[in-house]
Amino acid sequence: MKKEEILEYLKSDKANSLFKKADKIRKLYCGDKVFIRGIVEFSNHCCRSCLYCGLRQENKKILRYRMTSGEIIRLARQIIEQGVKTIVLQSGDDFGFSQKTLSDIILNIKRANPEVAITLCLGERPFDDYRAFRDAGADRYLLKHETANPRLYERLHPGQSLKKRIETLEYLKKLGYQIGAGNIVGLPGQTLEDLAEDILFMKELDVDMAGIGPFIPQKATPLSNQPPGKLDLTLKVLALTRIITKNTHLPSTTALATSDPQNGQVLGLKAGCNVLMPDFTPESYRKNYTIYDNKVRVSLDRARELIFKAGRLVSPSRGDSLKCKRRPKDYAYT
Ligand code: 5AD
Repeated sequence: MKKEEILEYLKSDKANSLFKKADKIRKLYCGDKVFIRGIVEFSNHCCRSCLYCGLRQENKKILRYRMTSGEIIRLARQIIEQGVKTIVLQSGDDFGFSQKTLSDIILNIKRANPEVAITLCLGERPFDDYRAFRDAGADRYLLKHETANPRLYERLHPGQSLKKRIETLEYLKKLGYQIGAGNIVGLPGQTLEDLAEDILFMKELDVDMAGIGPFIPQKATPLSNQPPGKLDLTLKVLALTRIITKNTHLPSTTALATSDPQNGQVLGLKAGCNVLMPDFTPESYRKNYTIYDNKVRVSLDRARELIFKAGRLVSPSRGDSLKCKRRPKDYAYT
């Protein structure tokens, strides 16, 4: 699909046929099973100043926390005991966790559970860290590109550049990580053309996974008064990403649930998504992981209920990349 055609779809208000087409392609390329990933938000410390995010270092209104290595490893074990086969370790860009500490956490989880996949979502770190984490056993790295418009990127992320982000994603891929990118829909100053570029960017980078969600204002950020991203537009971006990238893993994100707590994520599953990421962070910490306001908690039970509501099945597998070249040799489809 050319950029012009993508733009036509993004502008059009006849989205139903687009969602149907995305659903068909999802079924053909990914099947009816939905993969579940268990998230642990282990630290909300962050050294960045992203204009939209409540974890930005300037926000003095939240209590900052770090889970201990022991807490993280124990929680990972509990998640695995509940049948979840991917652990997502997520934090702000927190250099309070050293390469050694993080490597030890990864090693510990992997040694006890070699069959489980570990996804890291730790932001930008020295390249040497990525290598160490991969050596320790990490399988995947999620680093959203947020927006493929370099000027908008730089405006929203003081001190950071899109170029660096892309170099990092390329490097992660070279290290053998399955990589995830993804964008925010409805960012202040973002155009439909930018969104078309986001989709083409993810196709070009051949990402294994794409996390796409609406912008949701956070009260302690410079963008607190901006309007939220629209649910329908987000669903269209998801559907187009499915149609264009075919077998990329697409989570029906928590931000969709925050946009519409009843239906947001079911609509996502019906517009091309094939992944859910329930949150296992202990409540006392989770309440301070305020990337945006009113972030809902998607539990494992809720994830199962959503899959049932969408008429789909829970996958018992760890759900590696569906892109052949990055699929481990012993990968089982089901
Ligand atoms: N609205 C929507 N998504 C947000 N994120 C951070 N802040 C917001 C917000 N206000 C997303 C970013 C980041 C992920 C962890 O959360 O895409 O990569």
